[in-house]
Amino acid sequence: VLLTNIGELVTNDPAHGGSGPGLAGGEGFAPDGIGIVPDAAVVIEEGRIAWTGPASSAPAADDVVDLAGRCVLPGFVDSHSHTVFAGDRAAEFAARMTGEPYTGGGIATTVAATRAASEDDLRARGRALVREMLAQGTTTVEIKSGYGQDIATEARTLRIARELTPETTYLGAHTVPAEYADDRAGYIDLVTGPMLAACAPHARWVDVFCEPAAPTAFDEDESRAVLLAGLRAGLGARVHGNQLAAGPGVRLAVEVGAASVDHCTHLTDADVDALAASWSGAASRGFAPEAVRLADAEAGHGRPADVRPGVGQPADVGSGDVRRFDVGPGAGLGTVATLLPAVEFSTRSPYPDARRLLAAGVPVALATDCNPGSGYSSSMPFVVALAVREMRMSPAEALWSATAGGAAALRRDDVGHLGIGARADLTVLDAPSHTYLSYRPGVPLIHQVWQSGTRAV
Ligand code: NIG
Ligand code: FE
Repeated sequence: VLLTNIGELVTNDPAHGGSGPGLAGGEGFAPDGIGIVPDAAVVIEEGRIAWTGPASSAPAADDVVDLAGRCVLPGFVDSHSHTVFAGDRAAEFAARMTGEPYTGGGIATTVAATRAASEDDLRARGRALVREMLAQGTTTVEIKSGYGQDIATEARTLRIARELTPETTYLGAHTVPAEYADDRAGYIDLVTGPMLAACAPHARWVDVFCEPAAPTAFDEDESRAVLLAGLRAGLGARVHGNQLAAGPGVRLAVEVGAASVDHCTHLTDADVDALAASWSGAASRGFAPEAVRLADAEAGHGRPADVRPGVGQPADVGSGDVRRFDVGPGAGLGTVATLLPAVEFSTRSPYPDARRLLAAGVPVALATDCNPGSGYSSSMPFVVALAVREMRMSPAEALWSATAGGAAALRRDDVGHLGIGARADLTVLDAPSHTYLSYRPGVPLIHQVWQSGTRAV
């Protein structure tokens, strides 16, 4: 298939200057850093990108799709969502908008509804949300458990999630359920023991809500125990950290070699330094040898069959290499900072300081965190618009973070870019450039969505 007459093609491909915004140091790298090709064409073969370049030199193809000057982007990679749950918390949201703070306490409401729901109901709702995401240009999504908090419901959630995506995350340690309120240690034993055993076969990742400021979330030692147990079971690590207050989440994520630490709303200088060091090879994660060994052994385990090997392998990353967080073979083993501005929007909280992270050389991903409590948006275009308007990211930086950044946060090199050999996951905007995502917020600009070379929307 030849897609042609593309007004602006965003590739994130280093071959077209797509090494990441602001990182473009070397010769031939475009200042935007997202690998833009004007007046372009794309050739798709067997579900992969076979060729990209100027439309005037495109090869012939069996099928030709004329895109009439529209913009084509890599499909969005939403690396953080909680889309398998029952019930809603609209009343909690309304109360918040008239002054109540967000504490995470409402998670128990969703746990009760999710436990009570039938498997068919959970599946239908999860499917509908993933379809909603696809219609908004998201072609790769990560889905967490965490609203079961008992063995059967956590395992059921992950089984359903695995039908929807290979990027599934075991979040049994979301909060301590009411029946364990007086026995936190007992809940950690459950999460790191029989619940993990039941869930690990359906999960690629383990996650924990490390937030000592929230009474039902987890402190540093509890969180470390959860992450190490997951690593031992062959899962990769990710962390919910520093959402409500500064705390140990970010440094723990770096210590265990987590692929990403998500929220990052309240950061100290030491947190930013630790994240930056995780990409420079000077990581501070040397003080937990067991964690490092497990993290390094992570690559290749718990990985679904259709994910190419090679991602997440220890990379040859010299410090000071401006291209060190390219997606693609050789991508480093550092920890991505994933920002979730739809949560700050929906909890009326101050936004994370994206500029501080970017200035320190930390790769930033953007994701929705779609969940019924802290933020119920499934829209990556909305997240991009928030990132530009509220976090002062440039439109190019936000686009990179919503595509290549998300792929880095999932240690994937086959999505998030349109380099040769990438999955042909792409989004066509009914607009001439990627800037329109934030220039025209709230407008349905998604014209077509292709997944693995097939038109899906
Ligand atoms: O990522 N912070 C913890 N968990 C979710 C919110 C869950 C909820 O409120 O239901 C989050 O924001
Ligand atoms: Fe979350």
